[in-house]
This record gives sequence, C-alpha cells and structure tokens, in this order.
Amino acid sequence: MPRRLAVLLSGRGSNLEALVESVHECPAVDARIVGVCSNRPRAPGLEIARAAGIASTCVDHRAYADRSAFEADLGAALDRFEPDLLVLAGFMRVLTPAFVRRYSPRMLNIHPSLLPDLPGLHTHARALERGDPEAGASVHVVTPEVDGGPVVARVRVPVAADDTPERLEARVRAAEHRLYPAVLAWEAAGRLQLGTEAVRLDEALLPATGIDFRLRDEVLEPC
Ligand code: GRF
Repeated sequence: MPRRLAVLLSGRGSNLEALVESVHECPAVDARIVGVCSNRPRAPGLEIARAAGIASTCVDHRAYADRSAFEADLGAALDRFEPDLLVLAGFMRVLTPAFVRRYSPRMLNIHPSLLPDLPGLHTHARALERGDPEAGASVHVVTPEVDGGPVVARVRVPVAADDTPERLEARVRAAEHRLYPAVLAWEAAGRLQLGTEAVRLDEALLPATGIDFRLRDEVLEPC
C-alpha cells in the first residue's frame, strides 16, 4: 500500500509543488499525497493541490477563539485523510505539545537552516548578518520543541558575497525542493525509522544532524 501523506501549509506551496512532482506523481516512489490542509483560505498551495487533483481543505485559525479549538478541528480534518505521515511544508502556526504528541514521530517539517543552528524565523537574514559562509535547509521530526526534533537530512547551500535575504532564500528553497522528496522517498521505501529522540536509516542510527547533502548540477550528493 502506498504511504499516505497529508501536507500542511500556510502559503505559497512551492515545496508541495515539488512533492507533487517528485513523490505523488513519481511511479518510483510508493507514496501518495492524500490531502492538503491550510490554515489560510487564500494560500496559493491550495490551488496547487486542486490543480493536481489532490483533496484539500482549510481550517482557518482566525475563526477560533483559542488554539485548542483550532487544533481540535485541524486534527479532525487531517484524520479524515487517514494519513500515515504528516508533512509540514511552510505551515506557519506553532502547534501545541498536545497536538504534536498526538502524531509524533509521524510528522516531518522542513526548516530553512542547518539545524540545530538558527531555529525560528528570518533564518536567511540572520545567516547573512552573521556573515555565514553557508546556509541550508533541514528535514526533521516534529517534536514539542519548535524546530528541535531529530534531523533526518540537511542540504548545505553556499552563501554568495552579494546575497540578499531574498536571493539566499531562493537558492535555499531550490535545494529544499530536492531534499524533501528525497527524504520522503526513503520513508516510502520503508528505510526510515522515525523517532522523537533519534532517526534510523536502513537500521543505522543517524547523527543528531542527520545526513548532509549539497547540490551539484541540481542533484543531491552526500557531503
Ligand atoms: C520554506 O522555506 C520552508 O523551509 C519553510 O517555509 C517555507 C515554505 O515555502 N518551512 P513554500 O510555501 O513551500 O514555498
């Protein structure tokens, strides 16, 4: 049976687009995106889902007086997709520990930095302010600590001398579009054992920072 993935997003959905192309519509990957859920009704990602013929729904956080009521409906909407794995792709709400525990470790996120460095927002601007020679993105298991769960894999991206946060973000995003499908292909092939403390790939315990890649000619290669 193909792995059933549910994607959560809030905005643009370029990672969803990459996952549609390289996971959902890729015959070599035994996984299907069974549903997409946004907390914003106008998220362009919802349109990407519709265009791909994927079920989509919105649970608008602004309609709820408190976080637990929002999360109760969010959980109900997600459970209707009967997912094996939740895939956060630009979902911009912090989830409560209670919600996270309900799904963890069956929940992955992609974050635009080389975790554990630079958790939180504005990672590209912060990397540039510090004068970092490289930036990147990480796919990690979601745990109650924001951006703190075990890392499955990272992709390293060089910083250019004339980078702006926007230019760096675009370069990192292009790398994200390779990294997330690669990790989900491992998952679909049954090669990953996700845990809240650690992750195994092909039975081998991964280091806390996961497996490092870089892009060469738009293809991931291990560092
Ligand atoms: C990405 O940069 C991802 O790392 C972060 O949110 C952004 C989502 O972009 N979690 P998109 O909506 O997939 O284009």
